[in-house]
Amino acid sequence: MEKIRVLIPEEDVDRKISEIGAEISKDYAGREVHLICVLKGGVFFTCELAKRISVPVSLDFMSVSSYGADTKSSGVVRIVKDLDESLKDKEVIIVEDIVDSGRTLAYLKELLMDRGPKSIRICTLLDKPSRRVKAVNVDYTCFSIPDEFVVGYGLDYAQKYRNLPYIGVVEGIE
Ligand code: IMP
Ligand code: MG
Repeated sequence: MEKIRVLIPEEDVDRKISEIGAEISKDYAGREVHLICVLKGGVFFTCELAKRISVPVSLDFMSVSSYGADTKSSGVVRIVKDLDESLKDKEVIIVEDIVDSGRTLAYLKELLMDRGPKSIRICTLLDKPSRRVKAVNVDYTCFSIPDEFVVGYGLDYAQKYRNLPYIGVVEGIE
């Protein structure tokens, strides 16, 4: 078993998600938002965020893959599961667990732009700015973190630890 060190405690994550939820509610006042959850990592964050948005929310899910069981990027983004609904004239927010190289979101945003949404913004739980390879404009960020491999709140290491209610660092891996 790996060792997990707490990086961001549950209370801090919850408080920050409430703040971002309030900010989104204010920015989209009088409108509706269509949240796109990027599976699987974005699922815990999407649920918590959606509960804290006070304007009408609709949800859809998409799964893309840029990594294997490995922790390093292959640089390839593949659609594993596409959206169920059209984006035509919707005010879209893509909800991600973490922006690392930026490849996934840069690709996704470009792809979804072609589907006729009224707007697209990006909301992420975590950002590792020092790892950016591809420029991507992130509109809402809960936490910027150093270049460490993190788990919890949807993020996994070899499919484990997604269920941790806090953000932790996996110790003793490359
Ligand atoms: P990007 O295309 O490099 O920005 O990849 C982002 C994706 O890589 C995220 O959606 C995660 O699935 C994965 N990822 C990047 N860093 C971490 C990490 O520290 N822990 C767990 N998954 C990560
Ligand atoms: Mg992900």
